[in-house]
Amino acid sequence: IKAAVFASGAGSNFEAIMEANDLKCKISLLVCDKPGALVIDKAARYGIPTLVFNPKEYGSKSEYEEMIHRHLQHYGISWIFLAGYMRLIGDTLLNEYESKILNIHPSLLPFFPGKDAIGQAYDAGARETGVSIHYVDAGMDTGPVIAQESVMIEENDTKEKLKERIQKVEHQLYPTVINQVLSNKVR
Ligand code: GRF
Repeated sequence: IKAAVFASGAGSNFEAIMEANDLKCKISLLVCDKPGALVIDKAARYGIPTLVFNPKEYGSKSEYEEMIHRHLQHYGISWIFLAGYMRLIGDTLLNEYESKILNIHPSLLPFFPGKDAIGQAYDAGARETGVSIHYVDAGMDTGPVIAQESVMIEENDTKEKLKERIQKVEHQLYPTVINQVLSNKVR
């Protein structure tokens, strides 16, 4: 099984997936929409082919998704794992990869979807937040949830400390859930 990771940022989840020693698929491609993102260097260190593109150079989402799709086909990709990919997936990829796209989000969905979910939970004074992994649909963090793990917000927490604990959970949970999904332990 060959998979692609889509990411826009630091790539700590990409790294966690790469470091998982019993992953039931091969990560064969990184797709990144942010030239200069740190995740690109990480992929280079692992020798993973990387497709970097600038969405602004395309007339529409379907144009760049068709371009991405050609690359996915070239590499024989059958699964897509979003890991901090800051962009909605459009009809082109949703149709080609129906129920084959996963996302990780740093909150207990449906609470705090969208950008800066950790800051949103912190600023709202929530006592508990966490991590969700879900199938991707056309909405923003709205697809069916596969797994969640909660993280308590402590009395004297800072956003930074909370983020650290959440990311630690993410790095364990994502490879685990990927393996469960790939071995059909999730429906
Ligand atoms: C993660 O918190 C993920 O849940 C969210 O974006 C962040 C990406 O972090 N979707 P990284 O680039 O994997 O370090």
